[in-house]
Amino acid sequence: MEGILFPRAVPEGREGLTEYRARGGYEALAKAIKGTPEDIVKIVSEAGLRGRGGAGFPTGKKWQLTREATETPRYLVLNGGEDEPGSKKDRVLLENLPHLVIEGTILSACAIGATQAYLYINAEYDDAIKSITDALTEAKAAAYWGEKVLGSDFSLDIEIFPAPHNYVAGEDTAALEVIEGRKPQPRQKPPFPVTVGLFGKPTSVNNVETLANVAPIVLKGAEWYRRFGTAESPGTMIFSLNDDVNRPGVYELPFGTPLRYLIEECGGGLKSGKPLKAIMPAAPSSAFLPPDKIDTPLDHNSMREAGSALGCGVVKLISEGTCIVEEVLRIADFFTAESCGKCPACRMETSTLSMLMKKVQAGQGGQPILEQFGKILAFNKGKGFCNLIAMPGPPIESALNLFPADFEAHLSTGKCPVN
Ligand SMILES: Cc1cc2nc3c(=O)[nH]c(=O)nc-3n(C[C@H](O)[C@H](O)[C@H](O)COP(=O)(O)O)c2cc1C
Repeated sequence: MEGILFPRAVPEGREGLTEYRARGGYEALAKAIKGTPEDIVKIVSEAGLRGRGGAGFPTGKKWQLTREATETPRYLVLNGGEDEPGSKKDRVLLENLPHLVIEGTILSACAIGATQAYLYINAEYDDAIKSITDALTEAKAAAYWGEKVLGSDFSLDIEIFPAPHNYVAGEDTAALEVIEGRKPQPRQKPPFPVTVGLFGKPTSVNNVETLANVAPIVLKGAEWYRRFGTAESPGTMIFSLNDDVNRPGVYELPFGTPLRYLIEECGGGLKSGKPLKAIMPAAPSSAFLPPDKIDTPLDHNSMREAGSALGCGVVKLISEGTCIVEEVLRIADFFTAESCGKCPACRMETSTLSMLMKKVQAGQGGQPILEQFGKILAFNKGKGFCNLIAMPGPPIESALNLFPADFEAHLSTGKCPVN
């Protein structure tokens, strides 16, 4: 089946304006500019586009809420912070398909009535920033953005803003803080950015991959888009596979494709050659799944029913012979290091979980220590300014459920059963 974002396979090298136009590039903009902004919101809502930044929030609904906010100006922020370990989909889109991203940005700004868009891009992504900078120059010369886009009444300014190399800096309100010149720390919500966002004005923050879907939807229609994926998760999603498979890379697949297809056909199976012990469909913050869930369809509902989540599509595989206690300790330490420290609850929760996991690793505390995890997580549920506080829970709780023997081995011997 043809892809939506990647023309054939994952493109190698940057697609220039001539090549992009040759496959229909900027035709969606030319079409949309003759209609109304509401038409763009309507078609994207009908297509059922859901955010690819992790939560799967309906994009049309977010835009509608931004439009309904009465304050002006409104802002659009393209979120290319991408500091999730192992995620590379946004970088590939920015580097290789910059015009697809830019056309989606212009259409989205037009949809919400924004006259200023910020492209918030991971500051370490030198090639992506260069590629986008060059594409912006080409697109401006062609009157796709700037004063009076394609001779219409719509004007749009676009600015690149480097995102700090820091996980929390990708959280939407932390991104707004950075653009306003402050430290990357999330804001308390509500109010949500759609009503009180950048400089206190209505703002839509959308992931790079989300916005890359907009031009194809506007050009080819909602019905065409819904031919891909499932009813509740239409379209495709880009999944990132890393060194635990034979063919690491990014793969665009229709939602609903069995996880097995991604792992075996795309990734070429486990590099270790050993049997699969566990799957983490949204590393590092989702619950582990056991190997018998390998046929779970890759869509939001199916993953939730299986007990995990889709997140932003970084699929991590654990081979037999890997100790889950060591894996979970690494994850707990990651969240402790990445907690920005603004909320006492998050700071306390993440550091306590790390401390408890270190004790388990060292064989201290016996069975009673295992009960502490659930208590700490329950106590902090719903607290914190951002979702980071909810991220360490699923890996720990699923590991305790699925792999009690690994915990018992550490607790009874004080040694790792594997290393
Ligand atoms: C700790 C943390 C880090 C995040 N990092 C990113 C990121 O790098 N890129 C991103 O698009 N969304 C990230 N998000 C999600 C954003 O807050 C927001 O939901 C997203 O940008 C919305 O875009 P979407 O509706 O297109 O998915 C992060 C959230 C949290 C809690």
